[in-house]
Amino acid sequence: MRYRIDTKTKTEPLGDLYGIFFEDLNHAADGGLYGEMVQNRSFEYCAADHKDYHALTAWEPLENGGKVKLVAETGGAVSEKNPHYLGLDILYPGRDVGVWNLGFAPGMAYERGKTYRVSLYAKREQDREQPLMISLRAKDGRVYAWEEILVTNAWERYEVSLTAPETDWEGRLAVTAKGRGKVYLDLVSMFPEDTFLGRENGLRADIAGLLKDMRPKFMRFPGGCLVHDGSLDASARDAQYRWKNTVGPVKDRPSRRNNWGYNQTLGLGYFELFQFCEDIGAKPLPVIPAGYDPHHHRAVPLDEMQPFIDDALDLIEFANGDASTKWGGLRASMGHEAPFGLEYLGIGNEEVGEEFFVRYAVIHRAVREAYPQIKLINTASPFAAGGEYERGWESARAMQSDLIDEHYYMAPEWMLANHHRYDTFQKGDPKVFLGEYASWGNTWYNGLAEASYMIGLERNAHAVALACYAPMLCNVNYVNWKPDMIWFDNHRAYGSVNYYVQKLFMQNQGDYLLKTQKEDWGETEIWETDPKRLPGKIFLSSDDAVVAYRDIWAEDLETGERFAFPDCQVDGTHPRAELMEMQSERYRIHAKATEISGYKGMKVFFGYESEENHFCFAMGGWQNMDLFLTQKIHGRNTDLCQYAMEVEEGREYDLEIRVEGRQITTYVDHRKYHQIASLPVAAEPLYVSASVEEGGDILVKAVNVTDTPRELELVFEGLEDVCRRMDVYQMAGYDLEAENDFDHPRRVSPASQEDSVCNGRKIWNAPARSVTVMRILQD
Ligand code: AHR
Repeated sequence: MRYRIDTKTKTEPLGDLYGIFFEDLNHAADGGLYGEMVQNRSFEYCAADHKDYHALTAWEPLENGGKVKLVAETGGAVSEKNPHYLGLDILYPGRDVGVWNLGFAPGMAYERGKTYRVSLYAKREQDREQPLMISLRAKDGRVYAWEEILVTNAWERYEVSLTAPETDWEGRLAVTAKGRGKVYLDLVSMFPEDTFLGRENGLRADIAGLLKDMRPKFMRFPGGCLVHDGSLDASARDAQYRWKNTVGPVKDRPSRRNNWGYNQTLGLGYFELFQFCEDIGAKPLPVIPAGYDPHHHRAVPLDEMQPFIDDALDLIEFANGDASTKWGGLRASMGHEAPFGLEYLGIGNEEVGEEFFVRYAVIHRAVREAYPQIKLINTASPFAAGGEYERGWESARAMQSDLIDEHYYMAPEWMLANHHRYDTFQKGDPKVFLGEYASWGNTWYNGLAEASYMIGLERNAHAVALACYAPMLCNVNYVNWKPDMIWFDNHRAYGSVNYYVQKLFMQNQGDYLLKTQKEDWGETEIWETDPKRLPGKIFLSSDDAVVAYRDIWAEDLETGERFAFPDCQVDGTHPRAELMEMQSERYRIHAKATEISGYKGMKVFFGYESEENHFCFAMGGWQNMDLFLTQKIHGRNTDLCQYAMEVEEGREYDLEIRVEGRQITTYVDHRKYHQIASLPVAAEPLYVSASVEEGGDILVKAVNVTDTPRELELVFEGLEDVCRRMDVYQMAGYDLEAENDFDHPRRVSPASQEDSVCNGRKIWNAPARSVTVMRILQD
């Protein structure tokens, strides 16, 4: 196998290809990257955030020798944006009477010798000459460190710094009072002194450090579904993520429901996110809602779009305007006089439906007119193919969006099978922003599949401009979604296998692709027992519904034989009606289906080998909104194709699935929907790319997903007369199931070695199942 690299001929620029995506799910912000250690600091938790939440969640009374009543007060809070505060009614004074905060699970992480900055607003009605004690505690009540403050009868902000004398990962922060009567507290906050870059209201240094080390080119934020799932009214408790709620003094940022079932303080807001981007050298890529919530089918009337248009325009001014402008002035007042240099703006996150696209157009036009240099990003649904995906592309082309955001989470085998997905994408089209992607899992096998897929992204830089793995962060005690790139608890963080793959590619992206040529490349391995057919059982089922089927038959299109089956009904007690085992290469399945009652709809399984490996045609998936064609590969779900469709109860649908080889075509009421091939899982002998940095370093990446070591002859045209140092970074030698964890945070991570390239040639042995980056240094 020979790989010829013309080191003097640059082809496509790689631009900002590899970035990261900060999404506030899995407690990525509060209880995560945001350094705040107090949970429910403003007493604003409520059932809108989570059914079990209330204003005193995470707060408990301390009653050593006395008695106290905790009351969630309203009226006269420190900020009207956060109307609740705590009333500590000391009924009987005692040794140690007051309240403590539990922090985020399993408690506050104190490290011996480290200092913690506590701040709070306080006032008291009587006994004002008696002190309040602020203390770091163990969960058994032991006091580690304390300070006393005297408070008046008006709100004032107090700050103390406390140093932990010992390490405790389940600590508490207590505020206790001598004397009697009522004490009031609001915005009780604690940060470690050593936040990332020592900033106030700052970030956890370990998590931020892991991200900085990647050297991402951009950072998308703040979500995800979080952006658009919510009320269209920015002042509503469950509002969509509206950036204006997140800037200005921290005390005035209104607590909001996070759509992942918790609360967001918005303390880590747009200013902090822009600043973090700057700190780590990543271009900011904010995503704003477009006046449409696909989760609840809420759309702002078209003649009331102005607040959403303003949000877009004002955001650009906030990021880029000078200090004399309204929003640029706010940025400057927050401590950042210089602009943040915003280049990209995402409008919408994987929305489906016409309501979105008309609203997208309104915002797009307004921004184009005012800020023609901003690159606008449209969105292509959460699916890799189908009607809604195509609708996104149609809009992006019609509107001349600069980029279009694609999202998909797939089995690793899909990534291998679809390595060439972008080879056919056209250069003049909007560029792809692969804003969310991952294979299901955090194992070395996932890392390998993703690395091979990323070579495909890189090779297609003419079409793919930006890509970021998702989700990025997960607190192990608050998991909404997995896999994730970085896992953490309250005092530790580690990068998954996928993190190290991303980091390797990010740090060694290159600025331009080089002209290359593959020679004597060898055979692609096909990892399918039956690469040309989709044989297996056929059965009818339903999803959260009672469905009656009639006129049921399957036809072997090879022999013309037709098999008829009796009418049947499927429901919770009879979840499936088995039809037959089909072995033919070409067949079709037909049934007339009526949903008698229920929420979602019908499911037809075919090519069913096992619960772990099969195909499914599902009408009325996810909130009864989708017509899916899905594949389960080794137990991992892969949405091959999607159309929008709602199942109407009591209406009969005529369903047909046609399988020809690996090509699947579906019909509902004789109208064609999905038309897609389930590509066979294929492993090429090696996946390779070559690029060059502005500075002159040449980068060669080689991914071997097979269990055969490969000998690769690298020919560096243009380097015939020199000897250059080559730094090699390699991931190899792990079990396919290997993962990183807290105890082995770098079990799967690159090792490096120094080598050289002389006379323009190098024989490189790529171990079985390996990811290698070779950096040939400029003289
Ligand atoms: O990253 C997890 C979720 O996946 C995102 O919120 C959403 O955009 C996608 O569906």
